[in-house]
Amino acid sequence: MKSQKTILRALAGEKTETPPIWMMRQAGRYLPEYRATRAQAGDFLSLCYNSELAAEVTLQPIRRYGFDAAIMFADILLLPQALGADVWFVGGEGPRLSTTTTPQELQALKPAGDVHDHLAPIYETLKILTRELPRETTLIGFAGAPWTVATYMIAGRGTPDQGPAHALKYENIEVFEGLMDLITEATIGYLLAQIEAGAEVIKIFDSWAGSLAGDDFERYSIAPLRRITAALKAAHPDVPVIVFPRGAGERYAGLHAVIGANCIALDDGVSAEWAAAHVQNGGCVQGNLASSHMVSGGDALVRETRRIVDALYDGPHIFNLGHGITPDADPRNVQLMIDTVRASKGQSDAP
Ligand code: CP3
Repeated sequence: MKSQKTILRALAGEKTETPPIWMMRQAGRYLPEYRATRAQAGDFLSLCYNSELAAEVTLQPIRRYGFDAAIMFADILLLPQALGADVWFVGGEGPRLSTTTTPQELQALKPAGDVHDHLAPIYETLKILTRELPRETTLIGFAGAPWTVATYMIAGRGTPDQGPAHALKYENIEVFEGLMDLITEATIGYLLAQIEAGAEVIKIFDSWAGSLAGDDFERYSIAPLRRITAALKAAHPDVPVIVFPRGAGERYAGLHAVIGANCIALDDGVSAEWAAAHVQNGGCVQGNLASSHMVSGGDALVRETRRIVDALYDGPHIFNLGHGITPDADPRNVQLMIDTVRASKGQSDAP
């Protein structure tokens, strides 16, 4: 039976009349209602683990804009915490974690199967959303990819070049690969539990894939993404998977087949025209408006939005930004982007 939800149709490989649209970090600090709820929750992590409030902030951009999908409110760094790492956020700076760089530190982490008690509030958020989302809105669950999560666990913080994680590969490959395996296994269990709690689509964020050079890109970004996708498909063949190897550049070409994912999410480092020729022939693509347009707005936003929609018109496309929306974005520019995408209706010769 044909699904009514546009995103699911696009993920199944159908070209839709108008691209469905949602936005990375759509629940976030650019929205006054998010800031108010976050203040009520206390800090960011408390908000993530408060299922009622996490569901509330997930719903806020749906109420305001009517996006086609809602992404559950959580963070990729909840999984390291569930594995036993300390995680905290320093205001204005970002995440901090206890580091995992020695055999002892790796050994001290929990087994992959032991993460679920800690993550139970996230599953509860999904259950609430399953009840409260409008019927036409698709619910997206997510996790970080093993490489990206490992970069934070190894460095103990965000890093511009992921230097500490690269160094550990050379200095102690057993610890590095042991950590990658642990994260991969835990991520599979986490995502399966998200699907069981109501996630209709899964997205895997490999935000730092672009810093993997040569064979490392295949070994530490693509292979784990393939392994996770295969495990999800084995249990839930009908749940679409979106993968986001950010910064892949020309290595985006042909990735659907290599990973076995339904959709490849593009950052703004590749042009939509190039992606139409080299990526979209393999299936659905998502992206890729530069987030800076959400700050600057105006004619440039409209022009660039139309260009991306037109370039990807002949195949399955989910409109999104190339990366998360930033706190300095103007909520009115989000509306302008949505109006422009939805006004593209009728230009197409879709069935
Ligand atoms: O997209 C959504 O709306 C869903 C929720 C979501 C968040 N983080 C909420 C969040 C998702 C999917 C993420 C993913 C995430 N988290 C990634 C991968 C995607 C990407 O952006 O590359 C990464 C690398 C993280 C780790 C992380 N979380 C960092 C580095 C930071 C600090 C930087 C920043 O933007 O503040 C966070 C914090 C974070 N995660 C916020 C939100 C809304 C801001 C926290 C706040 O309210 O203060």
